[in-house]
Amino acid sequence: MADSLTITDNRTGKQYEIPIEYGTYPKRSAFVRAFDLRQIKVADDDFGLLSYDPSFMNTASCRSAVTFIEGDEGTLRYRGYAIEELAHKSSFLEVAYLILHGELPTPAQLEEWRWQITHHTILHENIKTFMEGFRYDAHPMGILVGTVAALSTFYPDAKNITDVRSRSIQIHRLVAKMPTIAAFAYRHSIGMPYAYPDNDLSYTGNFLNMMYKMTELKYQPDPVLEHVLDVLFILHADHEQNCSANAMRSVASSHSDPFVAVAAATAALSGPLHGGANERVLRMLQEIGHKDQVADYVKQAKSGEYRLMGFGHRVYKNYDPRARILKELAQQVFEVTGKNPLLDIALELERIALEDDYFVERKLYPNVDFYSGIIYQAMGFPTDMFPVLFALPRTVGWLAQWQEMLKDPEQKIARPRQVYTGESERSLVPLEVRG
Ligand code: SDX
Repeated sequence: MADSLTITDNRTGKQYEIPIEYGTYPKRSAFVRAFDLRQIKVADDDFGLLSYDPSFMNTASCRSAVTFIEGDEGTLRYRGYAIEELAHKSSFLEVAYLILHGELPTPAQLEEWRWQITHHTILHENIKTFMEGFRYDAHPMGILVGTVAALSTFYPDAKNITDVRSRSIQIHRLVAKMPTIAAFAYRHSIGMPYAYPDNDLSYTGNFLNMMYKMTELKYQPDPVLEHVLDVLFILHADHEQNCSANAMRSVASSHSDPFVAVAAATAALSGPLHGGANERVLRMLQEIGHKDQVADYVKQAKSGEYRLMGFGHRVYKNYDPRARILKELAQQVFEVTGKNPLLDIALELERIALEDDYFVERKLYPNVDFYSGIIYQAMGFPTDMFPVLFALPRTVGWLAQWQEMLKDPEQKIARPRQVYTGESERSLVPLEVRG
């Protein structure tokens, strides 16, 4: 049997052969090229068939080798490595190198990579003045979006997106500076002076330093919390063509610089259906208030009144493997911080939902956002910082998708078509006689 479709257009009786192509896993990535439909016409001057797929429910926008997700099994791999193995055996900076370069680093490569990131953490002092323009209670995601976009004005060389060396420097800058911007945004919101980067500390240790350093001469991060945050960053580093990765690729496809593209991706991530869900999960658990109230809350969610935040996923129709790891991680955190009372509510919510037909039929399982918020709260992060904590590691995935898009010979400026359903042509009626 040939790898092709034979399509008969019943309007004309004509037949067409459409080739079927495959990705790495043929059973999960067989595809036809949408453009092959354009030859199907009823007349020579016909535009030809479009494929119509609102929200890309069944459309591959690109070929990618970065992340593989198998939704029915709940599998997640970065560059072929299982998330479980990376979370338990690697570090965030090592995983960041893997995602960006395609291979795990040698010790020398990792040392060089760590040196580059460590020595790009400082922000131009003008950024502090820029940040002062935000209200004291500005949401840190809004500050992050605005500030990372503003960074593009400090690095005009970032517009040289075809230059390998320029791309490499911008990647170092963004991976290194996002935590500094995030921590400065937090300090701004509580009226505290900024704590500057400490090059002696790890990536996550330095972030905790910039967030929580007070009057001590040298901040000492709690090693357990430093490690837990490192694992959290590994789990959030990339997730193939999610909403914010799509925003990154689309904006950068116009050859904008990576700073404004990361700002656009961060803006997409901030929505409550995406990275903003972790903040909403915590507020939901606080609103439920007690495990005895969970059953009523689930009943209201089933009525469609609202959604269980942290549940469901476009791709995973099984337990999100990241949620499974986070559930284990929560125990490690609570041994240090003391148990978070919201955990009991979350566990009861998960128990009830996983038994309820409404959720079982729709294959709604806890996703990455369900447990991350409880952990972040126990670690002392304010709730509105949760989506920011998602954006920091995801910057690595966005940049890997960005580079892959630029190097892909099939990619050009993203410009979808539409199915027009508006008015046919009509003439303008003069205002004086209108109505
Ligand atoms: C992330 O794409 C990614 O990879 C994202 C992410 C990443 O790492 O980048 O994994 C991170 O964004 C995780 C998702 C975080 N968002 C939430 O937790 C918000 C709550 N979840 C949903 O809004 C929803 O599940 C989505 C947005 C995650 C997925 O939505 P889909 O695939 O478009 O599914 P849908 O909205 O069409 O829902 C299908 C059905 C509907 O019911 P019916 O119309 O068939 O009766 O399931 C219902 C929905 O009403 N449903 C829910 C629900 N999610 C879907 N009902 C109650 N609670 C929910 N959470």
